[in-house]
Amino acid sequence: MSTTTGNETTWDNVFSYHPMPVDLASADGVFLFDTQGERYFDASGGPFAVSMGHGHPRLTKAIAEQLSSYAYVHPMLGNRRRADLCDRIAEVAPKGMRASYLVSGGSEAVETAIKIARQYHVARGNGGKHKIISNYESYHGMTLATMSLSGNPGTTRHYDPMMLQWPKIEQYSDYRKPESLSRDEWGVLVARELEKTILYHSADSVAAYIATPHGCGSDYGVVPPDAYWREIRRICDENDVLFIADEVVTGFGRTGKWFGMDHYSVDPDMIAFAKGVSSSYVPLGGVIVSDVVNEVFNKGVAFVHGFTNGGNALACAVGCAVIEAIREDGLLEAVREREAQLFSYRDRLLAHPNVADVRGWGLFMVLELVKPDPDGKRNFFAPQEQAELKFQAAMLRNGVAMYSTLYGPNRRPVMQRGLPMWIAPAFIISETEMIEMMDRVDRALHQWEQGMTIP
Ligand SMILES: Cc1ncc(COP(=O)(O)O)c(C=O)c1O
Repeated sequence: MSTTTGNETTWDNVFSYHPMPVDLASADGVFLFDTQGERYFDASGGPFAVSMGHGHPRLTKAIAEQLSSYAYVHPMLGNRRRADLCDRIAEVAPKGMRASYLVSGGSEAVETAIKIARQYHVARGNGGKHKIISNYESYHGMTLATMSLSGNPGTTRHYDPMMLQWPKIEQYSDYRKPESLSRDEWGVLVARELEKTILYHSADSVAAYIATPHGCGSDYGVVPPDAYWREIRRICDENDVLFIADEVVTGFGRTGKWFGMDHYSVDPDMIAFAKGVSSSYVPLGGVIVSDVVNEVFNKGVAFVHGFTNGGNALACAVGCAVIEAIREDGLLEAVREREAQLFSYRDRLLAHPNVADVRGWGLFMVLELVKPDPDGKRNFFAPQEQAELKFQAAMLRNGVAMYSTLYGPNRRPVMQRGLPMWIAPAFIISETEMIEMMDRVDRALHQWEQGMTIP
């Protein structure tokens, strides 16, 4: 709870909360407004969450209408909204993936997917299969199990004795690719690390492999070639290992298709989703399972799981409205159009000496920021240089709130390569808004680069 003393709001009673010096008053479309009347572009919809923009009429109407009948009922009662949402998800999910299990966020979705994987194998008589392989530098959530999957020592270090010791492999990276190999050849070689790891641990002990289609850690926004996922699929099939795509960020339109994996010729066995499915208006997440996985449970195996708020009627109502809006307002096409506009700034951004790379897909752009080096080598900022803090000051001063800038003043860079900064605006951003936002980003980058002298 914040305390208000006169006009001053303090945050003393909010546990471990260190907000930016921006006191928000309202939000509309792609804009945030503070109590001083300043306007900021919500340049990444928070952490890629607000995909539909703020105050979207369809979404607010759907919530209000649902609220006027009921907001919440016991999960065991026939809550029609849950079925409506699962029907709509089935219509847009990859072929052969129809049933969804609903939860309230991304970490819960990933945790649910790995429990489904475990029960799937147990039900088929393979009780030894329990390990979940994931990627180094990945991020899959903040619960103990999802942190165990996440290969980020920065977030797990205090909890190491509590982490599940599951194997990790290198993810696809263009940066490690030998020049002599094509992306396809390299993709196959990288994927084979999964095969080696399954063999090393024995396929009898491995339940699933989980990965994000959009890369992670310092490889955020590196988009692997089709050959990579085809090889991953082959290895999983041959070893009876389920492939879980963590589409918490990429699901529901962010890449210009319903799911990131829709860009590829193979499908996963499960998709974990959250964020974009409700544009984070109401907490919502879930797991879409393949018909093959579902069949095991349909034969009478009860999934031993459940969260009080999974299938919350308000969340389901807004989820239905998001899917309808994406379809009826042509938002996948809009994302692809704005993607072309966003990435047309690539050369202009790369002209900044501190911008080492610009990559991504859809409305998901990663700027990789480094310290320029006269020899042209990549160099990294030391924490005491406070590069991120100064970057965030420059962006906010120019009316832009970006994901990294929203981490707050206590964050220190942990990435081995550059600082990843994300531009991921809402799908409804207009052409002129994009022009203004990118001009502001460009200006802020100039100011930040000027010797990093901004206080
Ligand atoms: C890929 C991925 N998986 C899972 C999560 C966890 O989602 P949540 O914060 O809703 O628990 C996130 C959050 O950013 C994410 O990026």
